[in-house]
Amino acid sequence: MTKEFYSCTQTIYPDEFLLKMTNIKPVRKAVFPVAGLGTRFLPATKSVPKEMLTIVDKPVIQYAVEEARAAGIEHFVFVTGRNKAVIEDHFDIQVELELTLRERDKHDALDLLASSLPKAGQTSFTRQQSPLGLGHAVWCARDIVGDEPFALLLPDMVMQDKKGCLSSMVELYNNTGGNIIATEEVAWEETHKYGVVETGKEVDGGFEITGMVEKPKPGTAPSNLFINGRYILQPEIFDILSGHEKGAGGEIQITDAMLKLANLQEFYGFRFTGRTFDCGSREGFITANVAFAMSHEELAKDLRTELKNILDEVQPE
Ligand code: UTP
Repeated sequence: MTKEFYSCTQTIYPDEFLLKMTNIKPVRKAVFPVAGLGTRFLPATKSVPKEMLTIVDKPVIQYAVEEARAAGIEHFVFVTGRNKAVIEDHFDIQVELELTLRERDKHDALDLLASSLPKAGQTSFTRQQSPLGLGHAVWCARDIVGDEPFALLLPDMVMQDKKGCLSSMVELYNNTGGNIIATEEVAWEETHKYGVVETGKEVDGGFEITGMVEKPKPGTAPSNLFINGRYILQPEIFDILSGHEKGAGGEIQITDAMLKLANLQEFYGFRFTGRTFDCGSREGFITANVAFAMSHEELAKDLRTELKNILDEVQPE
């Protein structure tokens, strides 16, 4: 099953790295890397993690956790760093708050808090001591994930769709096994900003991935499907990440490790047809707030009027 992937240096791995396709293990765990510095949101992120900035009334991280839960994930692994303790608190009981709400008969608020709380023992937190890159953050979760496939969700990438992106990916995975990468269409002239996949044979619910390129030069992208921040990966990725090879920007990159793994194991793409907001950028974060507020029945009507007023007041340059 060995195949050559372009944009990838060929490395020889021992046979035990090869995926045994006959045995499709279920995806039970999800990894959320939340140790990044969030420099694009300074000064807000000096003391507040960017994953705790809110879209309407929920922190960014909660959208990814809810998507994972809807996909049947049973264990939520957070890779945190300094100044991120508040994320751990967010997924715990807040005793004083709950007592006060109970005294005031605020049952709706209590139900809301209970509905977003993982069950006891369903969360693990580990630390990435230095932000050496996304690939390194994922590697920090190796002992908690162990020898089983896992979902990787980049919480910055917030998705809006009736059916969660990860739920559809799990369905595809249950057919194909292997590794799954979610992709989404982007305008061809924008492809140079993203990781882009090359598409092979169609399979039920997705397609074979035959190549991946990080930020292709304008006019050279193999497709207009960009990698949108959701993955199902086999545990052999940890062996590759343990090489700590630095890539673009001097950081340990998950894409480099996936390119190596793709020489040994199958990769399939899922075409996500909802919308992804890159909430690691100010523009994406603000757009997400407007989009989610406009789909909120209590907020949409008044917000539409307010937005119209603002747009009428602002003179085009
Ligand atoms: P980004 O590329 O957005 O980096 O990370 P960043 O440091 O968080 O943000 P900027 O660019 O300085 O504004 C994508 C995801 O990977 C995590 C981040 O927390 C984010 O969820 N990450 C990144 C880590 O956990 N560790 C790292 O070393 C780098």
